[in-house]
Amino acid sequence: MEYAYCGNSGLQLPRISLGLWHNFGFADDYDTAREMILYAFEQGVTHFDLANNYGPPPGSAESNFGMILKDHLSSHRDEMIISSKAGHLMWEGPYGDGSSRKYLMASINQSLKRTGLDYFDIFYSHRFDPLTPIEETMQALVDIVRAGKALYVGISKYPPVEARRAMRYLAERDVPCLIFQDKYSMFNRMPEQEILGVTSEFGSGFIAFSPLAQGLLTDKYLHGIPEYSRAADPAGFLKKEQVSQSLVEKVSRLNALAGERGETMAEMALAWVLRDERVTSLIVGSRNVAQLKDNLKALDNLSFTQEELSLIDQILDGATL
Ligand SMILES: NC(=O)c1ccc[n+]([C@@H]2O[C@H](COP(=O)([O-])OP(=O)(O)OC[C@H]3O[C@@H](n4cnc5c(N)ncnc54)[C@H](OP(=O)(O)O)[C@@H]3O)[C@@H](O)[C@H]2O)c1
Repeated sequence: MEYAYCGNSGLQLPRISLGLWHNFGFADDYDTAREMILYAFEQGVTHFDLANNYGPPPGSAESNFGMILKDHLSSHRDEMIISSKAGHLMWEGPYGDGSSRKYLMASINQSLKRTGLDYFDIFYSHRFDPLTPIEETMQALVDIVRAGKALYVGISKYPPVEARRAMRYLAERDVPCLIFQDKYSMFNRMPEQEILGVTSEFGSGFIAFSPLAQGLLTDKYLHGIPEYSRAADPAGFLKKEQVSQSLVEKVSRLNALAGERGETMAEMALAWVLRDERVTSLIVGSRNVAQLKDNLKALDNLSFTQEELSLIDQILDGATL
């Protein structure tokens, strides 16, 4: 595994991290979830990304992760970076969604209980909430660190203007924003416009989520929608309609290029996300160990020629998911 320093901090993250959004809840196969976590850790994937609402049902990915940790990895806690978040709907009523101090404080306590952890390595504000003063949300993050419930804090999906305000607030209180988490893949290049520059400006790291565009940037949809795929799963966030003919045609051309490079489509898509040195790590999702193995092979070839990059730009032609 390769590791990279996260922004200006002294914390190194694996270039590939594992996310537990899909496939790790009570609705999923526990043995497969355990195998993926243990395989990832064996391969040097030290960073596992959670959120309060991951499941289904919400909260169950944290509970499963906690059980796996307790049964198999408890003696390795100091070798792991475990993150969680609060910001999306978690429980009924006015205090289980958004970014109020009340919600963040209650949520981190619940997440610590579900995972059985004493602290998270990174705790995130999961999204910008326009109805809560940003100072209130950031002060909650500062106080979470001061209370020893998290070692570092991060923010996710904040628009650039608000990201700057948040990072400034945190820096002024000596709790710098360790990391910014955002969607970034060949099919979503928004962070290139501004946010990657903001992270550099504040010395924060950047971690990309959905680097495979939820599976679209693999070879799995080239011949229709397979039964065992996120798009076929009613609980999955990728909808059948999003697997459009025009995106699939682009993936087919990209897949040919990946073949010329001697790698799979998934490997090339992940290597492409890591080509920018401002990207500290990416968080990949996987449904089984075979996918995870394929994804980790992306690290075997992270370099692209200028011709390959231009061809990729030409094929993508601004396509977004
Ligand atoms: N901050 C946020 O708001 C936010 C939002 C979303 C995600 N995240 C984080 O980012 C993580 C990753 O998100 P994601 O799951 O959408 O990432 P992704 O890597 O883009 O998609 C993962 C899915 O792609 C398919 N796949 C993966 N590897 C494959 C391979 N080698 N060959 C074929 N198919 C493959 C699998 O879906 P199938 O089921 O189709 O096999 C897998 O579940 C999450 O777990 C979470 O930690 C954060």
